Amino acid sequence: MANIAVFGIGYVGVVSAACLARDGHRVIAVDVDPTKVAAINAGLSPIVEPGVSEIIAECVAEGRLTATTDAEHAIRETDASFVCVGTPSAPDGSISLEYVKDACRAIGSAIAAKGGYHSVILRSTIVPGTMEETCIPVLETASGRKAGTDFGVGYYPEFLRESTAVADYRDPGLIVFGALDDMTARLLTDLNGGIDCKIHVTDLRTAEMVKYTSNAWRAVKVSFANEIGNIAKSAGLDGQQVLSILTSDLKVSMSPWFMRPGFAFGGSCLPKDVRALRAFAATRRTETPLLDAVLVANAEQIARAEAMVRDAGARRVGLIGISFKPGTDDMRESPLAELASRLIGQGVAVKVWDPYVQEACDADLTSTGRGNDWGIDLKETLVPSLDDLIEGTDILLVGNRYEDAVTRLTALNGDRTVIDLARIDPKRRSGGSYHGICW
Ligand SMILES: NC(=O)c1ccc[n+]([C@@H]2O[C@H](COP(=O)([O-])OP(=O)(O)OC[C@H]3O[C@@H](n4cnc5c(N)ncnc54)[C@H](O)[C@@H]3O)[C@@H](O)[C@H]2O)c1
Repeated sequence: MANIAVFGIGYVGVVSAACLARDGHRVIAVDVDPTKVAAINAGLSPIVEPGVSEIIAECVAEGRLTATTDAEHAIRETDASFVCVGTPSAPDGSISLEYVKDACRAIGSAIAAKGGYHSVILRSTIVPGTMEETCIPVLETASGRKAGTDFGVGYYPEFLRESTAVADYRDPGLIVFGALDDMTARLLTDLNGGIDCKIHVTDLRTAEMVKYTSNAWRAVKVSFANEIGNIAKSAGLDGQQVLSILTSDLKVSMSPWFMRPGFAFGGSCLPKDVRALRAFAATRRTETPLLDAVLVANAEQIARAEAMVRDAGARRVGLIGISFKPGTDDMRESPLAELASRLIGQGVAVKVWDPYVQEACDADLTSTGRGNDWGIDLKETLVPSLDDLIEGTDILLVGNRYEDAVTRLTALNGDRTVIDLARIDPKRRSGGSYHGICW
């Protein structure tokens, strides 16, 4: 069993720390936010993600998982660090490496004070060349040591999907890493030993590029499916049926994930990573017409939903789900939050029912409302029950699909206008008071 420090207790770091500790490793989670550190040490999860709270409570009680703001302590007590800090978009769309550089500086100084061997493994999403051009130089300067010989270095991207992150940890679709040294490569191979998935070992830059390729491909798939859905609907066809037939061809075509016509993509990864890949390509004078179009197409899908609400003449809208996808409280770049904000800006009264965002608000987590850059007053818009939502509004807008809401909407039996961006019923098509975005 290994001793591992996890830097950054966000969505990726919490899941990594919890699952590593559950597998029997000794884990020290490190964050600059003392409230997140205190939450872990109290046996509580700083994020809302199915299955994580239980694992954290158990591993903290059994002493395998602790948290600290003290990087030097964490490095001294462990053999390797996983760096899972955020890499948000800079104003020009390129990737911001401030948190990565800060974490590398802290780890480098701690390695200088430690003496023994330590592997530094980045898990944050970073454009190709970042390990060699930024992380390694910062680590070497801060530690006064040589990467690959005096300390280990690896890049091991994370592919988890929020809301199914714990299941994805045990059953991933892809494992890839690059490492400068044998010790780091062996550690990452051993950590993935019990998992039924091929391990791709490659160079650092290729591993960095695979991560962006994966997220760019997910984004392309969403927009491609939406465009087909829009065209299909204009021809009187069901877009989901068209793509469900296409994606049944798993041999020659592709897997069906993300190939489901519906609403725009969002979240903390796809928009940011498509922007960053375009910015990266621009520095190499490489044109990216498809990626440019993907972002335009995604914005169009939000405008399309906005027009559907406008055409229905809605003045009081009840939005079901506002996080970027169902099953998480994460609102970063949520297209539903953007849609709500636009409607509010046009004088429409918007109320929101979202069980996960509500849970985060009730628990007053430090990440509550994360990504609410549209300035929506969550306290003002959130309603605790579906009854309140249905009674207080005249049009129901389905952003995320939740089983409770499906039951209630079905029981309304056409009495209320429903605009569906998430498809409450695969058999239902637009007609009467029901309007599906792509079907
Ligand atoms: N969210 C996802 O689904 C997902 C999936 C795969 C990869 N990623 C990538 O993983 C990275 C992390 O994403 P996230 O969603 O977990 O981010 P997040 O913003 O939720 O969490 C980052 C954490 O890092 C902490 N932090 C910042 N500077 C620090 C420092 N110097 N030392 C210690 N902690 C520090 C922050 O306080 C925060 O708690 C990003 O690069 C992201 O693109 C995210």
